[in-house]
Amino acid sequence: MEKYIINGGKALHGEVEISGAKNAAVAIIPAALMVDGVCHIENIPQISDTDMLLTILKELGAKVRFLNKSTIEIDCTKVRYQDAPYDLMRKIRASYYLIGAMLGRFGSAKTTMPGGCNFGVRPIDQHIKGMTALGADVDVKNGFVYADARDGKLHGARIYLDKVSVGATMNIILAAALAQGRTVIENAAREPHIVDLANFLNSMGADIRGAGTDTVKVNGVDRLHGGSYAIIPDQIEAGTYMVAAAATGGEVLIKNVIPRHLECISAKLRETGTIVQEYEDSVLVKGASSLRKVNIKTLPYPGFPTDMQPPMGALMCLANGTSVITEGVYDNRFKYTNELRKMGAEIQVDGRVAVIEGGKRLTGAPVHACDLRAGAAMVIAGMCATGTTVVEDVRYIERGYENFVGKLKALGADIECVDEPEDSDSSDKILCVC
Ligand code: UD1
Repeated sequence: MEKYIINGGKALHGEVEISGAKNAAVAIIPAALMVDGVCHIENIPQISDTDMLLTILKELGAKVRFLNKSTIEIDCTKVRYQDAPYDLMRKIRASYYLIGAMLGRFGSAKTTMPGGCNFGVRPIDQHIKGMTALGADVDVKNGFVYADARDGKLHGARIYLDKVSVGATMNIILAAALAQGRTVIENAAREPHIVDLANFLNSMGADIRGAGTDTVKVNGVDRLHGGSYAIIPDQIEAGTYMVAAAATGGEVLIKNVIPRHLECISAKLRETGTIVQEYEDSVLVKGASSLRKVNIKTLPYPGFPTDMQPPMGALMCLANGTSVITEGVYDNRFKYTNELRKMGAEIQVDGRVAVIEGGKRLTGAPVHACDLRAGAAMVIAGMCATGTTVVEDVRYIERGYENFVGKLKALGADIECVDEPEDSDSSDKILCVC
C-alpha cells in the first residue's frame, strides 16, 4: 500500500508543467470508441483513471498504442459490441461515458453503475433521462445499467436537465453525436472539458454547437472519421499547484495552462493576499508572508470549482481569520476536514457549510486521502505543517494527478512515496521509494 511521507516547512519554488485535463481525457477516450478510423490524441495525462479506460477499450477490442509519453493512437474500427468489463468499470466514475459512447455506436450498452470518489449520493438519473429521451430503454438492476435503443438507433430530442450535470451533459453529447436528427440539451453544464469533448468530436466530423453555454445543439452525423486532437490542460491540477504555492509561501510558475479557466481560483487567491500574474499560457503565483481569510461557494463553471474546495480548505486553515466554505454541488464533501483536524485545524461543519478558524499552526500527523482532491488537500497541509505527515490511501490521488510526488519534489517539497505491505514488520516496511 503506497503512502506519502511529507516533512513540512519547505516553500515551493520553481516551475511545473501541467498535464492534460483528467475530466476531458476520461470522456475523450470513450469517445474514440465511436470513431470509424484512427485517432491520435495528445496531452493524455498519465494517471490511473486514463490507464483504466484504455485497458477497458483494449478489452473491447480497440488497438491502443502510445506514440510518446502523452500521445496515444486509438483504433476502434474493429471493435464489435460486447459487454464492458465490469470489474474495471466499477472502479471509476467516468466509466459512465461508455454508456453514451456504446449506445451511440452500437445502439446498446451494458455497464456497471459508476464508481469514483464518494462524496454523498451521486445518482445518474439525468444521464438516464437523456438516453431515454433519445429513444433508449434504460434499466438499472443489481448494480448494472442496461441501455438499448428501441429501434436499434437513437433519435435526436430536446432534453432539459433538471440539474446542471457535467457527466450528463457530456454523456448525452456522446450519445447524440451519432443519433439521427438534432438534439438540444438545455440547462447544460459549461465546464471547459465539455467544450473539449465537443471540439474533439467536431474534429472527427461531428456537428456540435454551443458547448460552453447552457444550450448545446448536436446535429447527429452518420459517421465519425479519424483525426488528431490535443486535450486541454487540467484546470484542477493547475489550481492545486497554485494553492500549494500560496499555502507554502513559495513562488511557482505554472506552465501549460489556460489562464481564463483559472480566473475564479486566481481571484480567490488574490483575496488572500497571494500575488497571481497571468501570462499567455502560464501563471506565476507568489505566496504572501501572511494569508488573509477568504470565503468560497462552489458552483458549476464558471463558479468556483467544487474540486478545488478541499485544497482551498487546507489553505484556509493557515489564513488569518474565519473563512467559510459553502459547498454548492455535493451533499457531503467535507469528510477531509476530519483529517485536517488531526493536524490541529479548527473546523466546524454544518451540512454544506464549513467554518474554518484559521491562523493555527498545523502539525504533522498520520492522515487519509478520503478521495482524490481531499488527498491533494492533505498533501498541501502536510507541506505546511511542522513535522512529518503520512498520507495513506494515495491511490485516490494517483487517479487524477500525474507524477504528483515527482512534480512536488522538483519544486522543493520534502515528499516521498513509499510502498509498504500492510502486514510486514516495521523494520522492513519500505519496499520502494518512487
Ligand atoms: C464531474 C467531475 C467531478 C466534479 C463534478 C462537478 C468527471 C469525471 N468528474 O463529476 O470531478 O466534481 O463534475 O464539477 O468529470 N447529479 C444528479 N443526477 C445526475 C448527475 C448528477 O443529481 O444524473 C448531481 C450530483 O450528485 C452532484 C451534481 O449533480 O451533486 C453535479 O454532478 P455532476 O456535474 O454530474 O458531476 P460528475 O459528472 O459526476
